[in-house]
Amino acid sequence: MGGVLLSRGAIAATEPTASTAANAHKHMHGPAGARPGKRAPLSVAPFQTRMPVPPVAAPIRQTAAGDEYQVVVRPARLELVPGVITDTLSYGGGWVGPTIRGRTGRPVKVTFRNQLTSHTNVHLHGGHVKAADDGHPMDMILPGAAKTYHYPNKQRGATLWYHDHVHVDEAEHTYRGLHGFYLIDDPAEKRLGLPTGSYDVPIMLTDVELDTAGTLIWGFPNDRTTVLVNGKAKPFFPVAARKYRFRLLNATNEGTYTLSLDRGQMWQIGSDAGLLPTPMARPSITFSSGERADVVIDFSRVPVGTSVVLSDASKGPVLRFDVTRRSADPAKLPSKLRSLPVLPPATKERDVHLGFEFNDESAVAVVNGQPFDPDRVDFTIKRGTTEIWNVYNDDGEFGINHNFHLHMTHFRVLGRTGAPMTPDDAGLKDTVLVPPGTSVRLQATFADYVGRYVYHCHFLEHSSFGMMAQMEVIP
Ligand code: C2O
Ligand code: CU
Ligand code: CU
Repeated sequence: MGGVLLSRGAIAATEPTASTAANAHKHMHGPAGARPGKRAPLSVAPFQTRMPVPPVAAPIRQTAAGDEYQVVVRPARLELVPGVITDTLSYGGGWVGPTIRGRTGRPVKVTFRNQLTSHTNVHLHGGHVKAADDGHPMDMILPGAAKTYHYPNKQRGATLWYHDHVHVDEAEHTYRGLHGFYLIDDPAEKRLGLPTGSYDVPIMLTDVELDTAGTLIWGFPNDRTTVLVNGKAKPFFPVAARKYRFRLLNATNEGTYTLSLDRGQMWQIGSDAGLLPTPMARPSITFSSGERADVVIDFSRVPVGTSVVLSDASKGPVLRFDVTRRSADPAKLPSKLRSLPVLPPATKERDVHLGFEFNDESAVAVVNGQPFDPDRVDFTIKRGTTEIWNVYNDDGEFGINHNFHLHMTHFRVLGRTGAPMTPDDAGLKDTVLVPPGTSVRLQATFADYVGRYVYHCHFLEHSSFGMMAQMEVIP
């Protein structure tokens, strides 16, 4: 099959420079095809709404074999911004789907019922699962149908998330609301005494373009100026003067956040796929689409009645923590967390080039020169082996960011060329930023499962339009 053609301007417009975007507006099309006339963006006064905590899913059945859940995939009408109603797609009716809480070693089954008029499927991002349960792009749930996914949870405690991954439409579906948290609690980490219960809060950042009527516009990523925090624009969140664990997820389709606090300290304790060896003091955290940062913030020295603001370097304030009450604090932030698994020696090295191929007025999104073809296997990997992959961003001359996400397993970042390694590269990762013209060297072990899995840029407008490839793990 051929690649999907994109206009060069639409790609340039995905990049965060005002000039390319403005230029692109004049004559180009958005990822969904013809772009509607430019509408006035909705402006949002800050800190008018409380940040909701996504509901935790209740199991429909619990047996010796594990926990079973059911989630309905359906349209929803939500008040993302005070006073206007927005039509969205949803898992269970919210902007953030119900949080599924699994436990290491105890299997979970989730049945997703598709009540949309289009096909869907579900991928557990960061999950170490069988190929049949991975939400391969061609493995779809038709309208009216349901599918049960099996998640064995044979992995460390981690902040995972689930989202739509259906061929070509994953970008639009995920943008319109198909995303939720899946947290794995690990009994081996209980003794650390990290904040739990209502002091362990997942926070999903997404960005949307809304017109003044509240309509969700499927257009240029650069026009998505409204940042939603658990589905509310610029909310506040009342906290007690004590330690909290916040699981930050960049679930935005395409973009990078650099988050910092206006006072106090963020301690990063985990990245994509589990805890770090030790907490790291982070003046700011940079993470791109699909990445997670698990942090502890201690509000105990913040006077009651005052606030701490979390801001993005380019989009400004996103969330205000209001310290509203004194509190005892039994939670700990130990100086040692968990050592990373040993890296077995690599027996194979591969190169992965991400980029656009431009010709005159159009472009094709490719990995190693070819757009995604679900019928083609790009890499064949022997189960149980360890490999080093060098991932290149070939779009240096266009200044286009990419990132890289590997299904089925997790990796460690070994090094970079063209950009320094940062604490953002630490820990067990499944998604990593690859700035223009640079490369990332990573190492992964492909254990346990065989079959076909994808890897791709997690800027979903890129992957949906071809910047995705397929590996087959063989016995
Ligand atoms: Cu988060 Cu292949 O996806
Ligand atoms: Cu994934
Ligand atoms: Cu990309």
